[in-house]
Amino acid sequence: MRYGRFDDENREYVIERPDTPLPWVNYLGCEAYFGLISNTAGGYSFYRDARLRRISRFRYNNAPLDASGRMIYLRHEGERETSDPLFWSPAWQPVRRPLDEYECRHGLGYTVIRSRQGAITSSIRYFVPLGESLEIWDLTLTNIGGRPAHLSVFSAIEFCLWDAWDDLTNYQRNLSTGEVEVEDGVIYHKTEYRERRNHFAYFACSRPLAGFDTQREVFLGPYRGWDSPAAVESGRVSNSIAHGWQPIGAQHVRVDLQPGEDTRIIFLLGYHENPAGEKFDPPGSQTLNKRHLRPVLDHYRQPEKVETAFLALGAYWDGLLSRFQVNTPDEHANRILNLWNGYQMMATFNLSRAASSFESGIGRGIGFRDSSQDLLGFVHLVPERARERLLDLAATQLPNGGAYHQYQPLTKRGNHDIGSGFNDDPLWLILAAAAYLKETGDVRLLDERVPYDGTPGTETALYEHLQRALRFTLDRLGPHGLPLIGRADWNDCLNLNCFSDTPGESFQTTANRDGNVAESVFLAGLFLLASQEMIGIARFHHRLPDVEAFLLAVREMENAVWKAGWDGQWFRRAFDSFGRPVGSQECDEGQIFIEPQGMCVMAGLGIVDGRARAALDSVAARLATSHGILLLQPAYSRYYLHLGEISSYPPGYKENAGIFCHTNPWIMIAETKIGRGDLAFDYYRRINPSLREEISDLHRCEPYVYAQMIAGRDAPSHGEAKNSWLTGSAAWAHVAMTQWILGIRPEYEGLRIDPCIPSSWDGFSARRTFRGRTFQIVVRNPDGVCQGVAEMKVDGVDVPGVVVPADLPEGDHSVEVRLGR
Ligand code: BGC
Ligand code: NOJ
Repeated sequence: MRYGRFDDENREYVIERPDTPLPWVNYLGCEAYFGLISNTAGGYSFYRDARLRRISRFRYNNAPLDASGRMIYLRHEGERETSDPLFWSPAWQPVRRPLDEYECRHGLGYTVIRSRQGAITSSIRYFVPLGESLEIWDLTLTNIGGRPAHLSVFSAIEFCLWDAWDDLTNYQRNLSTGEVEVEDGVIYHKTEYRERRNHFAYFACSRPLAGFDTQREVFLGPYRGWDSPAAVESGRVSNSIAHGWQPIGAQHVRVDLQPGEDTRIIFLLGYHENPAGEKFDPPGSQTLNKRHLRPVLDHYRQPEKVETAFLALGAYWDGLLSRFQVNTPDEHANRILNLWNGYQMMATFNLSRAASSFESGIGRGIGFRDSSQDLLGFVHLVPERARERLLDLAATQLPNGGAYHQYQPLTKRGNHDIGSGFNDDPLWLILAAAAYLKETGDVRLLDERVPYDGTPGTETALYEHLQRALRFTLDRLGPHGLPLIGRADWNDCLNLNCFSDTPGESFQTTANRDGNVAESVFLAGLFLLASQEMIGIARFHHRLPDVEAFLLAVREMENAVWKAGWDGQWFRRAFDSFGRPVGSQECDEGQIFIEPQGMCVMAGLGIVDGRARAALDSVAARLATSHGILLLQPAYSRYYLHLGEISSYPPGYKENAGIFCHTNPWIMIAETKIGRGDLAFDYYRRINPSLREEISDLHRCEPYVYAQMIAGRDAPSHGEAKNSWLTGSAAWAHVAMTQWILGIRPEYEGLRIDPCIPSSWDGFSARRTFRGRTFQIVVRNPDGVCQGVAEMKVDGVDVPGVVVPADLPEGDHSVEVRLGR
């Protein structure tokens, strides 16, 4: 069953009923001010950091779901038809009164919710203008009936007292600190401005207000919810001023509409920061200085300025997405690649794993391994910003080459809040750096001086950071010569040194073993891949003596994998802290894991001697389902002290045999490494969200973005997705499809075109911007093969090999490729 449809031409997903299985969200903002917005205008906003600068509140585990957010109510003041309700929400929530018509369009950086109730139609467009720290709610009301309509419009937002964690917990203080100001109809939220904050939030409107409220319980009335505020029911606000308790912004505007008439009201919710020395006006008072803000408000209260800002946002997204467009025989691949995948990757660029419907914005910041992997996907969209991200990540690296697991976006300082000692973390930085270098050719990056742990005076060249990252693994080898796993590797839940038997103790921060025995085969694969990238980087940087050393390390690691990491038909996953294999035929449960099959084959292991094929055949036989490829089999049926969080999940969920989508593209890439384009693409289709639209009642998450997880076949809800939007699945699915299946792959010397496609395709075309040139690529497949370039022409001239040279003149170029035997 579907709840909406793709409007490919307008680049929107159209939701046709408000009661989607879960809130289906979109993101507003792409620079500093961000918001999540659901199809019923739920969600919340923040400035840079969802934890430390939260503007509005949200209750994740609320019932009903998603009931607070950007609230608008309409109320009939005059006579009304008997079928008309007294008041309703034009976005359905929070009142949830049935609407006669409803449609939500999620587009690139904006959402439009349209509805009709009786003779009143409403359209609300939400977006964040480029370069601004505010969001616009652009409301148009039309009276399509035959008699005049007299309406009250109420808008409301519940302010968060900035630190979202403290706001949820520290009531003894927070119920006394709330402060607001109301001036010229603008509501200012200024809690803690009197002391150390230089920022405040505001809620403004383009119309004169009939009244306002800023104290939540006055607006709602005691013991009432947002679905039936007393002020809306009675049609009267109280002009309340919050002193402590729960500051809100609620505005009341009166509107009279003749038959056929429409009107537009613009609401502005924003964040403003004053220079430290200019906080108050007049100086010495406790009154906010609004001088710098007023021109911004005046500007965006004008509809034509709002229109210009909206067009500029569209042009921004056009520019980004035009860097890579494809036309393949598969409409689902086209739709996702040309629009939603790029768009989702930008959400992961902006927010890493910080704020989504499943990430509270409190728990996690910018993940080291997460953002490093996301960068593999978004680097071609925003190379300059990717460079900055790389340097920020590297600046949190520790002097021993290790890494904090995350940093806070506002401070850019690493922290151990969600654990430390994940031994894979530093290696991903090498992959990210290589991707950036190949995309841009910007060798100077490697000489950038970057500190360790954000400490001035510790700077070394980035190249040295990368070397230390590799060294970090070599300094931590276990009994089989394989990398020690530490707290965990990519799989946060494979906690082989945790041994926790205390209820509620975090698997992510607990370690009861010294960690000198448990090893990871996956990490060995990742090390090999990172070393190969490091060899490429060293060559590119003319560090030839280093290449020898890296090659030696590669050979030794390969030997270790073949000696201890191969199980006969697939790669083992790890060795536990007793030195016993994990992910082996010897195990009762968890005999085969997906991660090492993907990673080791991506690193080239076993391709020549057939063991890669054997491993991938085992994946196909034991892990593949119609909903995607499982993380492991058989699922762990009980809790194992020596395995940790992985066995804490009921079978089929998350890391315990869920379909962890992030890992599926590794298998797709591995399949292309052995030339099986049909299977690679088949796997791609299984997790492509557009193909899952048909089963939205099962899948439940948004059909336009990847989710982290789809319940595995051991789960009662096999096929149900969770944790959409902020997941490495977006970047990896893009990399697998564009670089390995379509085979358009940036390399140091140029753009490689070496597809591995389904044999049934007669070809495809693509347009790719690369180092200031734009390539129109046409691939033909007259012989129906998967792989093998028989001929390549650049601007009509035969070119040897499969790499389009990077040093062609700037401008447009055509590339024609013929696949064949
Ligand atoms: C989840 C992992 C996540 C980890 C760290 C675990 O509970 O299962 O997917 O990476 O927490 O936040
Ligand atoms: C989600 C985390 O964000 C990611 O870093 C981790 O690799 C996966 N879970 C697997 O545990």
